[in-house]
Amino acid sequence: MTNRLFFNAFVMNTTSHIHHGQWRRPDARQSDFNDVQTWIGLAKTLEAAKFDSMFFADVSGLYGDSDADYSVYVREGLQIPSNDPTVLVSALATHTSDIGLAVTSNVFQQHPTNFARQIATLDHMSNGRAAWNIVTGTQDNGYRNFGYRALEDHDERYRWAEEYVEVAYKLWEGSWDEGALLRDKDGSLHADPDKVHKIFHVGERYSVEGPFLPSPSPQRTPLLFQAGSSGAGRTFAARNAEAVFLVAPTPQIAERQIQETRALAVAAGRDPKDVTFHQGLSFVIGATEREAQEKFAYYQQFVSTDGYAAHTAIVDPDGRIYPSDTPLSAIQTNTAHGFLDHLRQHITDREPTVADLQIQRLRDAVVVGTPEQIADHLEAWQAAGVDGINVINWVIPGSFEEFADYVLPVLRERGLAQSEYAEGTLRRKLFGSDRLSARHPAAAFRGAFGAAASRPRAESAPLPTAPIAR
Ligand SMILES: Cc1cc2nc3c(=O)[nH]c(=O)nc-3n(C[C@H](O)[C@H](O)[C@H](O)COP(=O)(O)O)c2cc1C
Repeated sequence: MTNRLFFNAFVMNTTSHIHHGQWRRPDARQSDFNDVQTWIGLAKTLEAAKFDSMFFADVSGLYGDSDADYSVYVREGLQIPSNDPTVLVSALATHTSDIGLAVTSNVFQQHPTNFARQIATLDHMSNGRAAWNIVTGTQDNGYRNFGYRALEDHDERYRWAEEYVEVAYKLWEGSWDEGALLRDKDGSLHADPDKVHKIFHVGERYSVEGPFLPSPSPQRTPLLFQAGSSGAGRTFAARNAEAVFLVAPTPQIAERQIQETRALAVAAGRDPKDVTFHQGLSFVIGATEREAQEKFAYYQQFVSTDGYAAHTAIVDPDGRIYPSDTPLSAIQTNTAHGFLDHLRQHITDREPTVADLQIQRLRDAVVVGTPEQIADHLEAWQAAGVDGINVINWVIPGSFEEFADYVLPVLRERGLAQSEYAEGTLRRKLFGSDRLSARHPAAAFRGAFGAAASRPRAESAPLPTAPIAR
């Protein structure tokens, strides 16, 4: 019997997230993102279709080089304006009962104490459906918005993230023992003080005393998502993530990435199955192959090539998109190296141009066909080791409605999609237990702050209580 795939709806609280220009389609509703009803309606649609989670991307600033003209982003609605996903999902929690609610949050945008408290609150409000996509930021402007001079060095960003998650794990897993919250009216004891601990974290960037203000939420630590692709990013994912996002060009490449990351997870003391992999794909669905191709041609009428280029930060210092015949070697950028390198791996017989990049971004991970052809395609991804699919939309809510109406029934017949939700928290639905596995590094903080834990010596403590501006 086949295992089913997990399905996440990939969205962002903005107009133009991935497929730029589509917001101009008559059936597109994504520019109504300020209206909470747009999201409540979508959340209900996704829950009726038994999607596992609604996953919100987020940014802390603009793409591109900070000192360049940024008008293209504003013109395109390209992730500006955009709203806070964490605030939004708390509203969605009250209109849904089963779907996971995943939010992206950058390590530099908030102090870990406050972030951990927000997520614990969300996990309480949603009865254990909170998930966190851990990101370290790729945008200079994002860092500048939070008081730093520039984008932090790549590997240092992941070192920062390691300390950030350590603080959060201590608060979520270690500050309150099981059974601490009593609410014993007759005994006049709300919680047992012997079971609520300070954590006395003192590290390079943070100094946090505790105790954690919220009591343990159903999952304690939210389900952990991550999408690093570099060496440092994968090492971080292998240690910390329970769900890793991939945007691999082919199942074969995904298979290699999965094997490499799983090997790193094993080296970090985890089980290979402690980490799941979720491939991002967009779908163009037709009753016949021809109809699907005609639809794709229609979608292409709305494509904004400027949008795709700007998302990859291919904008000159005056805010102009480089002409399509510009060779990639002529592009000056300090933020888009990863994507340019990725393209160079695809086009090896000549120097790729901006036009190649625009085409690649549009066609990357798009599946065009009938529901049966799409199901065949997904079977190939599953055979490569992929556990789930991150469904990337063209329009909201139409792309998800079509997927629900036409593709999911075929997938259900093949045992590839669930018909009902399993009981319990998001982690229980995915992994069979509410709490992080004992093999995860966060588990080391369970019971670690009892009587034996003590306040650090005074001379080791005079550390900043906020990230150091660099
Ligand atoms: C599917 C997917 C979703 C992502 N979502 C976000 C996001 O919402 N916000 C963000 O700042 N970065 C996001 N990223 C970027 C990653 O967090 C990461 O910075 C990027 O993949 C580069 O990884 P690396 O730093 O290990 O090279 C996403 C990446 C992928 C593949």
